[in-house]
Amino acid sequence: METRYDVLIVGSGVAGLYASLFFGGDTRVLMLAKRARTVSSSSLAQGGIAAVLDHEDDSFDMHIADTLIAGGYKNNVAAVEALVREGPEDVRKIMELGVEFDRNPDGSLNRTLEGGHSRRRIYHHRDQTGKEIVDKLLAEVSKRKNICLEDNAQIISVVPSGGGFRADLFVNGAVASVFAGFCLMATGGIGRVYMYTTNPPTATGDGIRFAYEIGAKIKNLHFIQFHPTAFDSPDNPERFLISEAVRGEGAYLLNGYKERFMHRYDDRLELAPRDVVSRSILLESRRTGSNRFYLDITRRGRDYLFNRFPAISAACLERGVDIAADLIPVYPCQHYLMGGVDVDLNGRTTVPRLYAAGECAHTGVHGGNRLASNSLLEALVFGRRAALDIAGCIRAGYAGVEEIPVSIDPSGAPLSPGLTQTIREIMQRAYFVMPDEAAIRQGRPRVESILSRLENERFALTPEFSEAKSLAVVAAIILREAEEK
Ligand code: SIN
Repeated sequence: METRYDVLIVGSGVAGLYASLFFGGDTRVLMLAKRARTVSSSSLAQGGIAAVLDHEDDSFDMHIADTLIAGGYKNNVAAVEALVREGPEDVRKIMELGVEFDRNPDGSLNRTLEGGHSRRRIYHHRDQTGKEIVDKLLAEVSKRKNICLEDNAQIISVVPSGGGFRADLFVNGAVASVFAGFCLMATGGIGRVYMYTTNPPTATGDGIRFAYEIGAKIKNLHFIQFHPTAFDSPDNPERFLISEAVRGEGAYLLNGYKERFMHRYDDRLELAPRDVVSRSILLESRRTGSNRFYLDITRRGRDYLFNRFPAISAACLERGVDIAADLIPVYPCQHYLMGGVDVDLNGRTTVPRLYAAGECAHTGVHGGNRLASNSLLEALVFGRRAALDIAGCIRAGYAGVEEIPVSIDPSGAPLSPGLTQTIREIMQRAYFVMPDEAAIRQGRPRVESILSRLENERFALTPEFSEAKSLAVVAAIILREAEEK
């Protein structure tokens, strides 16, 4: 890794990887992965990628309508139009790059269904669509000589400097600085601000914190999605997802008495949008006094299930559940962030030369609740748009970044134990599926006080300290927005 680049991409999920491919060979790109390059929410995405590739029984207008209905009409319609109308070209492009989607016996692409979709329009690679896309994009990135991809490079802060940005980071156990003319935040979600999430350990909202610290507008951070069917294992903070495609392929959702119950809450039953299903689970839990819930897919048969859902069936088996014979215990947990760093349709934030794409960005495309399998599509469409905008600025005569080194003293007090756990407990109690106003009022000053300590006391600069600061900033903004609503 050198110290000066044209473009810094923070994050190695689909938004960052795909964006990196739109720069010419003379644009020097540095992409930083906080852990191994394959650790991202994108890699974990199971369900698939929604797109209208076949207009025989589907249309752009239908996909747009489903996206708006799921989003509660809080979406930015122009962003939805771009997503739906441009997305199919990006899906075809990643197929040209080698991404394989499941096919029917006649060779046509198989399409699955998920909550909120009025048509089968989700292309998938069994139940590991995200991993397939990430692996193929990584293979393409590795061929590009202008892209340097560093693993285990955790950024501490990003500040405007020398006509671009200086990013300070931990790499190989030491603090270093790199300089870039443009910066694209593609750091993913904020799941680790909760006790239970489907997100990987890297999802601490770092990009949102960096952007916030340099004055970028942050919007709708309280638009948080809770997936209704994560495997219920209270001992583990990272919940394994039981894809909505399992309900799309016919699974029933059962209450603690092992009865279907969605008819009490929504005509679309198990395939209502996921915010509706998550809320229904909590209401049913209050009604029955039981917080046990199950998915039942046993009627589809072992061969079909183990072939269609190999990762889910294997993960369930590891946890003692045979999905072809047993009920799968499930419960909602944090899954996705619709809000984030506010950007225009080209990924521009309110700070010059700072861009954001993917889950950490707020284009407004998802409104108040994301339609299933629109996230990988969003990462492609808006990752590409951001990269093309940056490439255009570079072509228009960008003068390059000046390297202005600073000396950083990482010494200080060790991080007080339990701060991040306290934040997670507050968020889980105050702002989960159905926000609890009293808990928000009580929790917010506690989170603000943790944030103030992290900002004002002299803690040692460590990876843990940096993540704690990100979690505190994110939690404070969510609770402020929630209280002011
Ligand atoms: C799922 O497979 O249920 C998740 C897909 C998504 O988050 O859209």
